[in-house]
Amino acid sequence: MTTLLRLLYFYNRSTKYAVASLLLIIMLVFLWRFIPNRNIPPPPVSNKYILSWQLYVMIQDEHGASLFPNLQCRVNNCIFTHDKNFFGGDYSQFDAVLFFDKSLKLEEEQLPRNRTSSQVYVFGTVESSYNYPACEIYFDDFFNLTVTYRLDSDINWPYFLVRDLAGQVLAPKVDVKWPKQGNVSISSNIVDILAKKKRAAAWLVSHCQADSLRDEYLTRLQEHLYHFSLEIDVFGLCSNIKCRYGSCAEMFTRDYYFYMAFENSFSADYVTEKVLHGYDNYAVPIVYGGANYTRFLPPGSYINAHEYHPYNLAYIMHQAIKNPSIYYEYFKWRNFYTIDSGPPGSHALCKLCEDLNTEGREPKSYSKFRLWWNLRNGMKWCLPQSFWNEMTLVHVDNSHVISMY
Ligand SMILES: *[C@@H]1O[C@H](CO)[C@@H](O)[C@H](O)[C@H]1NC(C)=O
Ligand SMILES: *[C@@H]1O[C@H](CO)[C@@H](O)[C@H](O)[C@H]1NC(C)=O
Ligand SMILES: *[C@@H]1O[C@H](CO)[C@@H](O)[C@H](O)[C@H]1NC(C)=O
Ligand SMILES: *[C@@H]1O[C@H](CO)[C@@H](O)[C@H](O)[C@H]1NC(C)=O
Repeated sequence: MTTLLRLLYFYNRSTKYAVASLLLIIMLVFLWRFIPNRNIPPPPVSNKYILSWQLYVMIQDEHGASLFPNLQCRVNNCIFTHDKNFFGGDYSQFDAVLFFDKSLKLEEEQLPRNRTSSQVYVFGTVESSYNYPACEIYFDDFFNLTVTYRLDSDINWPYFLVRDLAGQVLAPKVDVKWPKQGNVSISSNIVDILAKKKRAAAWLVSHCQADSLRDEYLTRLQEHLYHFSLEIDVFGLCSNIKCRYGSCAEMFTRDYYFYMAFENSFSADYVTEKVLHGYDNYAVPIVYGGANYTRFLPPGSYINAHEYHPYNLAYIMHQAIKNPSIYYEYFKWRNFYTIDSGPPGSHALCKLCEDLNTEGREPKSYSKFRLWWNLRNGMKWCLPQSFWNEMTLVHVDNSHVISMY
């Protein structure tokens, strides 16, 4: 009995000590906060290092270092460089290695040999898969992250953003929601601009050997426009005709009702800055490409040539040119939206920087990258030109084909 009492006593005493010391510690921790000038340095901000494997035209800054500061990203601890010797030639030190479209043409030996499992290999491009197909098998299971114009990329790199007047991004998006537009009239400034126009359509083209279907359609369209005494005026490298008034933009604004925003390839989601040549200059874009344009452009702001026989399109153009009230309809979107390259900090590379800062990201890789990038019809772009004929260019609907790999 005494032993038990003694034991209990001892137990109680040690508990008391334990509680007392715990309280003391808590108090100290609490008080510590009130001691001024503790001089504890903030935790070091770890930078994320991105190596660009090759130079890329869409990233203008040749030197790299000022790329991220210039983009004004919200998350701004990324360091971008083209310098492969940045870490003394040890590529595995980079958090990410960025491969742009041209890298798809490299031999296996020209790619980095060492990679760590935490490193992110990024495929980035705004060029179409038709112009830069992924042909070699060593690109399967090579990339971890995609940053491209395709809407199913990990990070979308669009040519433009459509925003509402509150700045909210509406498009491009797969699940785009266009709010109903009320019955509005266009502003008198716009009416003044449109009143001076006198020529049907302009086409600025520099990619002379594009898909022959594009040229075929345009030839047919031109043929039918002739009925109405209307013409498509071709400018740029391929026609060697220079824009009037010293600038193409000025000329489109002053003279042209329509702008032919025909893409040079029919890759899915490939809608480029060509539409901006129209929108920016009050010339209605006539689009033609492989995208579902509903996901990219405000309804009623453009004409999709894919939906019309060239004869019908010529008639639609003629009607709009003859009837201002019909033509004005194409400009009503300006009461609701802006279309431009987006505000500072909205660049796709800002999202890449944010992504690299995400803790605990699941490992991911594109095991069938070539199929993802080229799509089922796209392997043909890997064949030499001599294999091509008109039929190769026709988009074959093979959505019913059973997936075998
Ligand atoms: C690859 O990494 C290993 C181990 O980190 C290193 O010993 C080797 O030199 C590296 N090779 C190249 C080509 O960088
Ligand atoms: C185009 O995109 C819209 C919006 O996502 C969708 O509702 C529509 O079904 C698509 N059209 C085609 C032909 O895929
Ligand atoms: C739109 O408004 C105009 C006048 O502002 C009117 O003449 C026209 O009938 C209206 N259209 C519709 C579809 O409500
Ligand atoms: C990147 O892909 C490679 C190759 O499939 C894989 O081994 C690695 O774990 C992936 N890393 C990340 C961070 O997803």
